[in-house]
Amino acid sequence: MTIETETGENYEIKDFSLKDEGLKTMQWAESRMPVLQLIKKRFEEEKPLKGVRIGACLHVTKETSQLCEAWLAGGAEIYLCASNPLSTQDEIPAALASKGVHVYAWKFMDAEGYYRSIGNVIKARPNITIDDGADLVSILHKLKRGETDEEVEIVKKVIGNETDIIDEVWGGAEETTTGIIRLQAMADDGALLYPIMATNSSPCKNLYDNVYGTGQSTIDGILRATADLIASKVFVVGGYGHCGKGIAMRAKGLGARRVIITEVEPHAALQAVMEGMEVMSMHEAAKFADIIVTATGCKDVIRKEHFEVMKDGCLIANSGHFNVEINIPDLEALSTNKTQIRPFVEQFSLSNGRKINLLGEGRLINLAAAEGHPPEVMDLSFSLQALASEYIVKNKEDLAKMGEKVVQIPEDIDDNVAYLKCETLGVKLDELTPEQEKYLSSWRTGT
Ligand SMILES: NC(=O)c1ccc[n+]([C@@H]2O[C@H](COP(=O)([O-])OP(=O)(O)OC[C@H]3O[C@@H](n4cnc5c(N)ncnc54)[C@H](O)[C@@H]3O)[C@@H](O)[C@H]2O)c1
Repeated sequence: MTIETETGENYEIKDFSLKDEGLKTMQWAESRMPVLQLIKKRFEEEKPLKGVRIGACLHVTKETSQLCEAWLAGGAEIYLCASNPLSTQDEIPAALASKGVHVYAWKFMDAEGYYRSIGNVIKARPNITIDDGADLVSILHKLKRGETDEEVEIVKKVIGNETDIIDEVWGGAEETTTGIIRLQAMADDGALLYPIMATNSSPCKNLYDNVYGTGQSTIDGILRATADLIASKVFVVGGYGHCGKGIAMRAKGLGARRVIITEVEPHAALQAVMEGMEVMSMHEAAKFADIIVTATGCKDVIRKEHFEVMKDGCLIANSGHFNVEINIPDLEALSTNKTQIRPFVEQFSLSNGRKINLLGEGRLINLAAAEGHPPEVMDLSFSLQALASEYIVKNKEDLAKMGEKVVQIPEDIDDNVAYLKCETLGVKLDELTPEQEKYLSSWRTGT
């Protein structure tokens, strides 16, 4: 549904009549994100984002609605599109549009709609970009470099032939591991054209959101898609980084009979072994698996030779950022038939007579079939994003002098969010006595 307002702004969302449902859902998230509410309250008083145009490409969920509310309170104009075709919760864009957010997002968008929406955000000439996976940044850079491909052509239909919109961007922030990897590669090649705050690299993000958020919500996605029992199953996790650790921990907690990890990095593999998990190659693990979930940021983690040895009925899902971790073309090539057996479950019949169930089209299962990370954990991540936006506005000259880099969020900002979260959870910390401070600092100075 495209809505043209009297002032000529347009939004592209599924159904504006979902607005009231969306507003109630927003209230639910609000009551579970206390740190972000404190920041919003301060933003309301200080208006640090007054007149700033924020272009955001994020999962359009109830948690993101609270980040938008904080930005609005700070005086920003917001242009928001989805960072994944399946992750939008359709009532949220309706509610956000009613609050003046320019939003272009609906669940089950096709590639044309996805890039048209990014085009609409770019057309607003953002001063700050906030990405989850770096698609918005990537398109802005392709436009500037004069590169063309199918995605850029879709964007150009919205913005015309303008190439210099990137020159109005002061800085950006990136939400996820895959986005940081893409941006760091651009910075290393000298191709990055403005500084980006690495929100994902802050402890307040990757220690909680990636581990506990992805852990719980990935299991939630599998359960909502299948309603299966985890207890007694052989559960394989591809990758034992932040996300993989969370998924494995929760699978174990739900009684999986065996939790098997596949890895390419020795320290991650050793950590898994010391945590009491088995580690083996995907080729070996695939033979026993009832459920396999990937969370690596890599491609082809499950491919032809693995499909060929899987048991009948195996469930496969992905929780890594892009839908390339499971090689779906390989699965299609081995199959004689494909049936949508339940929402978010496609059953592939292989020529060897076995059936393999692919969940959520191989896209982030926690956002495709469930609601993504719970608000309590996004309270930390989105508090950081709100403060990163304020930091970019206050320090844009210094950031410009630092050059086109991936920049860490200052430690004091991250610590402050962690202290506030402890406070809101009623977690009391001890304080160092003056003698303890002296003792510790004597080690630091060597005196
Ligand atoms: N589902 C979500 O909501 C969500 C949330 C946060 C991050 N992510 C995404 O999940 C992915 C992983 O993020 P992370 O923070 O855990 O990253 P990480 O770097 O902490 O961990 C990735 C792990 O995967 C391993 N790995 C890489 N290639 C592999 C392969 N081919 N086979 C087996 N293991 C391999 C690495 O050695 C590493 O230990 C990224 O794409 C990230 O963007 C998703």
